[in-house]
Amino acid sequence: MCGIVGYTGGSQAAPILLEGLARLEYRGYDSAGIAINNGEKIDVVKAMGRLAVLCDKCGNGRDVPGNIGIGHTRWATHGRPSDVNSHPHVSENGRIAIVHNGIIENYAQLKEMLINRGRVFKSETDTEVAAQLIDYYYNGNILEAVARAVRELEGSYALGIICADEPDTIVGVKSHAPLIVAYGEDGNFFASDVMAVLNYTKTVSYLDDDEIAVVRSDGIKFYSPFLDEIKKEKYVVDWDIKAADKCGYEHYMFKEIMEQPEAVRRTIEPYIRDGRADLSDVLDREYIKNVSRIFIVACGSSYHVGVIAKYNIEKLARIPVEVVLASEFRYCDPIIDKNTLVICISQSGETADTLEAQNEAKRLGAVTLAIVNVEGSAIAKGADKVIYTKAGPEIAVATTKAYSTQLAVTVLIALYAAECRNSLSEDEYGIILKELLAVPEKMMKILNDKANIQYLAYQHFNNEDLFFIGRNIDYALSLEGSLKLKEISYIHSEAYAAGELKHGTISLVVDDTLVIAVASYGRLVDKTLSNALEVKARGARVMGITTESLKEKVAKATDEIITIPDTHEVLLPSLAVLPLQLFAYYVALYRGCDIDKPRNLAKSVTVE
Ligand code: AGP
Ligand code: GLU
Repeated sequence: MCGIVGYTGGSQAAPILLEGLARLEYRGYDSAGIAINNGEKIDVVKAMGRLAVLCDKCGNGRDVPGNIGIGHTRWATHGRPSDVNSHPHVSENGRIAIVHNGIIENYAQLKEMLINRGRVFKSETDTEVAAQLIDYYYNGNILEAVARAVRELEGSYALGIICADEPDTIVGVKSHAPLIVAYGEDGNFFASDVMAVLNYTKTVSYLDDDEIAVVRSDGIKFYSPFLDEIKKEKYVVDWDIKAADKCGYEHYMFKEIMEQPEAVRRTIEPYIRDGRADLSDVLDREYIKNVSRIFIVACGSSYHVGVIAKYNIEKLARIPVEVVLASEFRYCDPIIDKNTLVICISQSGETADTLEAQNEAKRLGAVTLAIVNVEGSAIAKGADKVIYTKAGPEIAVATTKAYSTQLAVTVLIALYAAECRNSLSEDEYGIILKELLAVPEKMMKILNDKANIQYLAYQHFNNEDLFFIGRNIDYALSLEGSLKLKEISYIHSEAYAAGELKHGTISLVVDDTLVIAVASYGRLVDKTLSNALEVKARGARVMGITTESLKEKVAKATDEIITIPDTHEVLLPSLAVLPLQLFAYYVALYRGCDIDKPRNLAKSVTVE
């Protein structure tokens, strides 16, 4: 959600901020703004809607000269999207300007206190309260004013602050929201994520909660909440700015779908040693032997990875696995002890629900393992152990390559745990590992055959209601197929365990309802096909997704068919997800949807 960027240095700030904000557009937003300190005063330009509107309003930055500034893309929480509610917000006297990501929960009390002291407010936001509060405490030193004011703020915030009287200083501070600082050649930055600055530098430091950064053109200093100076490590990010470009593709989502073979290969490679899935650097063998229970906690697509992982880990390693939505886990009083492993899966590493669930798991005494794509993110930093997926920057709101890399990591975990617990025959272990290594190549084959999927999407893009059905891992995968389609094409769909349809939902099936039957899992394919015939008998059109070797059988019970290469059953979802992603993509394309930035959605959801 919302993006923040700040710059101070030798160049004009506004164009740099606008470019940074463009790089953060993927996070999801409804309005944007910048504030520039020109040495005498702070100029603010803000506009509701796309960043292009803001760029027009300020001559692409030319109309607001100055070498220091802050920028913001807002995802409204307090007050509807409007010019006046957009950030930056400025104190009544124009001295302090701030950008904010998050929610200040006690804003109403603070606002009342400030109104009683004569302050006048312009917007409905919680953020304006913080701007006024910092100004209220300003006594010639912006760092001290910020440190004083944030002591009174409750909730989540990443704040970037400039002061008209201190024209070479940006102050950044955070609590439960992401904020990094970055070291450039011609100035320094702060931002809500590295994407905003990657064009200028890869060297960053990650702020921890309650730490304060003072960013100046000649350096960055860090302070504790009580203003003792502290040292922070510098890190060099291994993402390449090119990986964040569209590289000639019409949409990021399509580019990211095509990048999956390479992303999966990059992710698994470091953990394959001497022909074994070796996670011993991350998870101690003895510990895994004694694990009594695993919770997998995540949201959205990452949760769907967990649902597949449950089947696979239980099958191979015989450890009971519970998959819980992160937003529920926190409040369900989970039964946890030191032999419980809690795996949190998150692409962004910022999802507030997942982060809070991880904190709860730690509080209850579990060991936590995070599977995360973004280095230095809050979930990665907070976990006891981390496995990074190497998907590279994922820009499209709808996840594809991050999902696939997460899934590959869960297969590594299942294999490693099975070996530690001696629960899998050597032969089967060998077959699964071989098939895992072959996933990238088999993915390529599906991607090369995408014309058939595009054709089927064209046949069906006018559907308004459809069902995905499957059993076992095919059901788990259906959840993702349905979410992908909903997110980007706005078509209503539901994923159902194939055997469950007849217990109620089949009443919704009428003539020409499209049912996508994921029927790749050989052991249960006959059962799924019986369910396909049940819906066909009620007028549905059935599209089957199956393997080469089951093709003939599945073709008899379906109207249309998509095939994937054969593989070991635990890896079927890793292949079958590709047709589902491509189907959703092409349907959304034919419907003229904003594929990379679907309405109402944000790439990382930093509020609960
Ligand atoms: C996926 O396409 C969605 N955009 C969404 O469900 C996402 O997976 C979810 O918000 C979790 O995000 P995370 O992996 O960054 O924690
Ligand atoms: N709560 C603030 C607002 O509504 C910030 C929202 C955001 O993170 O963009 O303006």
